[in-house]
Amino acid sequence: MNHLLFDQLTPALPDRYKAMSDEALQQEARRLRRELGSRLFLPGHHYQREEVIQFADVTGDSLQLARQSAARPEADFIIFLGVHFMAETADMLTPPEQRVILPDLRAGCSMADMADDAQCEQAWEALTERYGDTIIPVTYVNSSAAVKAFVGRYGGTTVTSSNAAKVMAWAYAQKKRVLFLPDQHLGRNTAYRSGMPRRRMAVWDPIRRELTPDVPDASLDDATLLLWRGHCSVHENFRMEHIDEFRGSDPERRILVHPECTWEVTEAADFAGSTSYIIDQIASAPAGTKWAVGTEMNLVRRLADQHPEQSIVSLNPDMCPCLTMNRIDLPHLVWVLDEAAVGRVVHEIRVPETTAADARLAIDRMMALG
Ligand code: 13P
Ligand code: SF4
Repeated sequence: MNHLLFDQLTPALPDRYKAMSDEALQQEARRLRRELGSRLFLPGHHYQREEVIQFADVTGDSLQLARQSAARPEADFIIFLGVHFMAETADMLTPPEQRVILPDLRAGCSMADMADDAQCEQAWEALTERYGDTIIPVTYVNSSAAVKAFVGRYGGTTVTSSNAAKVMAWAYAQKKRVLFLPDQHLGRNTAYRSGMPRRRMAVWDPIRRELTPDVPDASLDDATLLLWRGHCSVHENFRMEHIDEFRGSDPERRILVHPECTWEVTEAADFAGSTSYIIDQIASAPAGTKWAVGTEMNLVRRLADQHPEQSIVSLNPDMCPCLTMNRIDLPHLVWVLDEAAVGRVVHEIRVPETTAADARLAIDRMMALG
């Protein structure tokens, strides 16, 4: 959306919250949290800032938070500490009387923005013209409700990084080919680790509207995985040079990355897995273990604080947190809590029912896989 228009349509954070000290904001957050009691549910994604995640009722990865949001019928308000697509999913999985709030509407996801429903329809037309009725669409939950609706309409499912292998196996039991969007890396890494060679993969460029083989000498006729050319701008910042540096200077340090990293980095790492997998690996490692972790910086810092008995650093020493995740700060949280306490809803996330009905088909297929 045009930024000028966005600023005009979106109520801005009132000045008084900007003027409050951190201590006053924390006190207010605690007081309002108590006052709202079970009328409020506050889920928080692991990539959120410390200043807000401390108030979360539950923390989790995107799959866990989607499930948790659907299981709180007593809450009038769900204030989502996360990004836009997560709040949309929470809205679609809850009844209309439950109001889902995103404290700052600018908390989007650059990866989710790399696919829109019109581009999906164009891709579908071109790809089904080439391959006929052999394709099932699969979208990472990091996508808009409209893209999920496209996938639901054509018989496909959503997927998260923690269930990707299982969902991919299900998809190939339905059709010969999978269109995986919007994250090419999660799609490529998951299929490769399940045994698919890269010559069976191709990449769809939604801007050029062009399909190219994933490796130079491969034939498009053999392609069974059609990857959308999208990526996470945070995880793409972990590069081979960072791995080479640690392998040379500190060979004992284990390299642990999220599968939103590139194929080269994921294959060169010692371990790769979802946000929950990363947390579990570190939690179960013995004292003294050394890690270089390739995922979002707020989480890496939190893991280092929680595990002083281990040595935990970022795989990229110059890494910054995800900027859109970081939009959710304490002043915005206190503001929306204050409004909720007097029954007012600011920054509501509401998906139109026509879109939600189709998107739920895709989400429900994933949820049914367990
Ligand atoms: P998960 O929580 O599914 O691991 O996703 C990571 C992510 O990038 C969320 O934006
Ligand atoms: Fe999106 Fe990447 Fe940020 Fe996750 S870490 S919200 S995928 S930009």
